[in-house]
Amino acid sequence: MYKALYRKWRPKYFKDVVGQSHVTETLKSEIEKNKISHAYLFTGSRGTGKTSSAKIFAKAVNCLNPKGGEPCGKCEICTEFDNDNLIDILEIDAASNNGVENIRSMREEVVFAPAKCKYRVYIVDEVHMLSTGAFNAFLKVLEEPPAHVIFILATTEAHKIPLTILSRCQRFDFYRIKNEDIAKRLEYICKKEKIKIDENSLKLISSAADGAMRDALSILDQCSNVCADNIKEDSVKNLLGISGANYINKLVELIFENNISKCLEFIQDSYSKSKNMARLCEEIMEHFRNLMIQKAQGEQTPADLTLDNIIFFLDTIQNTYKNINSGADPKLEMEILAVKLCSIKNKNNKPQENTKEKVAPPPSEPLPEIKKPEILETKPQNENSFEFWPQILGELAKEKGLKSLYIALKDSQAYKNKNYILIDSDKSIAFEHLRNSEHRSSLKNIIFKITGKHYNLGPYVKNEEKGKNDPLDSLINDAQKNNIDINIGGKN
Ligand SMILES: Nc1ncnc2c1ncn2[C@@H]1O[C@H](COP(=O)(O)OP(=O)(O)O)[C@@H](O)[C@H]1O
Ligand SMILES: [Mg+2]
Ligand SMILES: [Zn+2]
Repeated sequence: MYKALYRKWRPKYFKDVVGQSHVTETLKSEIEKNKISHAYLFTGSRGTGKTSSAKIFAKAVNCLNPKGGEPCGKCEICTEFDNDNLIDILEIDAASNNGVENIRSMREEVVFAPAKCKYRVYIVDEVHMLSTGAFNAFLKVLEEPPAHVIFILATTEAHKIPLTILSRCQRFDFYRIKNEDIAKRLEYICKKEKIKIDENSLKLISSAADGAMRDALSILDQCSNVCADNIKEDSVKNLLGISGANYINKLVELIFENNISKCLEFIQDSYSKSKNMARLCEEIMEHFRNLMIQKAQGEQTPADLTLDNIIFFLDTIQNTYKNINSGADPKLEMEILAVKLCSIKNKNNKPQENTKEKVAPPPSEPLPEIKKPEILETKPQNENSFEFWPQILGELAKEKGLKSLYIALKDSQAYKNKNYILIDSDKSIAFEHLRNSEHRSSLKNIIFKITGKHYNLGPYVKNEEKGKNDPLDSLINDAQKNNIDINIGGKN
């Protein structure tokens, strides 16, 4: 079976991890001196070696014959791990296991001794994706970890991790890798893979990778597919031509023209030029995210879109991205996305010819209501839905100093219960922001401005997280006596 280059060339020793010696040297010395922590946080941008280093570390602490902090690569533990047969080193993808129940079952499991290893190591990838409830459950394990357990948490977004968790971890920051270092590693791998490549091609790929070794290896992979193992500068340029801002702008233009057939052609063309569909989806997402930020700051955006429109575009794209990452056919998903995005614009009945000249409404005007097209499902409405929430988010978006709060809350729902507004978000960052009392009072002021009523704030407890005798009601009753907000930090 074909194995992507970036997987095949995952470093197996610390010495092979490029550009992160400030991390690997410290880890090696901890292993040598047997001064190991129970919790580590590896943070830094994608494709810089976090997961790889976590795996090497997990192997090295358990290796029967470590040398200078490196795993030996030969003992029973090392070989079983390399063959994916070691049950004591667990990788958990927090993006898909982000609920309280996932962490609770881990909590039950940690007390048992490892089967074979000295330490059971949990590598929790994308840890920022855990729900607030899951973080709280996890905190309980981190407060008293059993001696035989090590956690390595990896994330691209350390700012989304609650401080209570951060403070219990030894933190390592992974850097973007320098172009020269990437080029050197590419050259080494090409030699081993018997791929011919010239110096300019190496430079082009390294700089396109923007500090991420994984991206560099993916590009190399695509190039070697197209060039039959003799990579020339021209073909690299050609291939890089199907990525980057200009490329995406072209697609977005077609979307705004509702040109479904041209959009589908575009996707077919990218696909046949070995463009990675998940990457394409990310790039479109990035584009609309930038539009959202521009718009939220009251700046003019190229097309006549309301902030709500943009957010709706983003939701739709995010959904496609999720589907692709959970195994759906990437090309088909992208085609469906293109049709959906073109249709959104149709439903809005916006005259296309003038869109470019139109100026965004000044920030003081109220935002028009969201018009969601019928072809797309809307989120289920709860009878207690707080009907002013979209309007309040619209107001929040206009407040310059509250942009980060707006971004944290933009996907949330809100419900009304007595004199409480209960916010439901699966992003811990939303609650992280709401712990800040200034943020809370700004939000409460906006709510007052729009509804004319004073409300307290609290987190919404999802049904599946509720116990038998609805903890939310008792929380509200308790808080109501003192007329205070319900502890925003947790949903538990
Ligand atoms: N610092 C590095 N040195 C060598 N290869 C790397 C490095 N970082 C990433 N890679 C390559 O990219 C792939 C993915 O890296 P990974 O460790 O999963 O990155 P992260 O977890 O930071 O996103 C690896 O299998 C490896 O091929
Ligand atoms: Mg990773
Ligand atoms: Zn070993």
